[in-house]
Amino acid sequence: MAITIKGTGSSLPKKVLTNFDLEKMVDTSDAWIRERTGMSERHIAENETVASLATEAAKKALADAGKDAADVDMIIVATCTGEVMVPSTACKVQAEIGADNAVAFDINSACSGFLFALQTAGAYIASGMHKNALVIGAEVLSSIINWEDRSTCVLFGDGAGAVFVENCEEEGRGILSMAQGSSGSKGGVLYFRKREADPDKEDEYEGKDAFVHMNGAEVYKFAVRQVPECIEKALADAGVKAADVDLFVLHQANIRIIEAISKRLGAGMEHFPVNIDKTGNTSSASIPLLLDELNRSGRIKAGDTVVLSGFGGGLTYGACVMKW
Ligand code: ACO
Repeated sequence: MAITIKGTGSSLPKKVLTNFDLEKMVDTSDAWIRERTGMSERHIAENETVASLATEAAKKALADAGKDAADVDMIIVATCTGEVMVPSTACKVQAEIGADNAVAFDINSACSGFLFALQTAGAYIASGMHKNALVIGAEVLSSIINWEDRSTCVLFGDGAGAVFVENCEEEGRGILSMAQGSSGSKGGVLYFRKREADPDKEDEYEGKDAFVHMNGAEVYKFAVRQVPECIEKALADAGVKAADVDLFVLHQANIRIIEAISKRLGAGMEHFPVNIDKTGNTSSASIPLLLDELNRSGRIKAGDTVVLSGFGGGLTYGACVMKW
């Protein structure tokens, strides 16, 4: 049994932080940021929280799908920046929207989070245990950024995106294949702590603060090798050629990564929509944010062959092929 996306929604904080604003905060320039990352601005939460952004995105996805909160079987939120560790952000969303019949839980797989959450929903629905799910990616990365570190503070933004998925009886429609993987031995390439660690306790992670730490060059190498491989596996499983894909909706980490993946797959950049210029890297929120934009603008159409792919901390990666 396949699953299909019936509705999308998203939410961005009101405050916009431009590259020019960042020039006043750290030793950087609009030109450096745009050239290396493709970003011009990003949204930063002030009064919004991960849970409030996730809730707004969820409500919009339900409205788009024409469903009531009472219809929802399952709520999965992908996040690595929830305000509290318990209760889960998904349980907060459940309470806010009144989805009393749903089971709700979070997944933390950093920037692969939305993909993994979608794949989890797909597996549940295929098993027959549940019929539908709200799958949400939501982050307030600004809460874990060291705003004095120019090598990371320019890269990230806040936001949330959501999809409502349900089982699909129609042959050849919905999600056709899913691939995923993890390289736990490379965890030190990209990490952050939830809180100050014991300074006397040795571990593999350098630095004892709660901010994002990243070896940008290693993340780049990982992404441009592992992601095309993972996408090719998902394409082969679905019996689809890269040349026949209408849209590749990738995690919006960095425009150079997306360009390198486009080259490796031999598919032109016109098939790789981007919104990174306006949102920055929003981790698990980036794919559903972009999907919502494509859906609402009509750029993604019924019958399109679409590849989704997420990758990031863990290290983790995943892809799925779907017929929209
Ligand atoms: N402004 C100006 N100069 C900067 C900035 C900045 N914001 N940040 C770093 N620099 C300087 C560095 O200090 C360095 O100076 P030096 O040569 O005097 O030492 C110089 O710019 C080059 O630094 P690099 O780190 O080598 O820059 P690079 O070209 O590799 O670009 C980047 C950095 C954009 C992070 C790149 O490594 C990259 O794209 N990595 C992929 C990782 C990524 O996108 N991560 C996102 C999060 S992970 C995820 O979502 C999967």
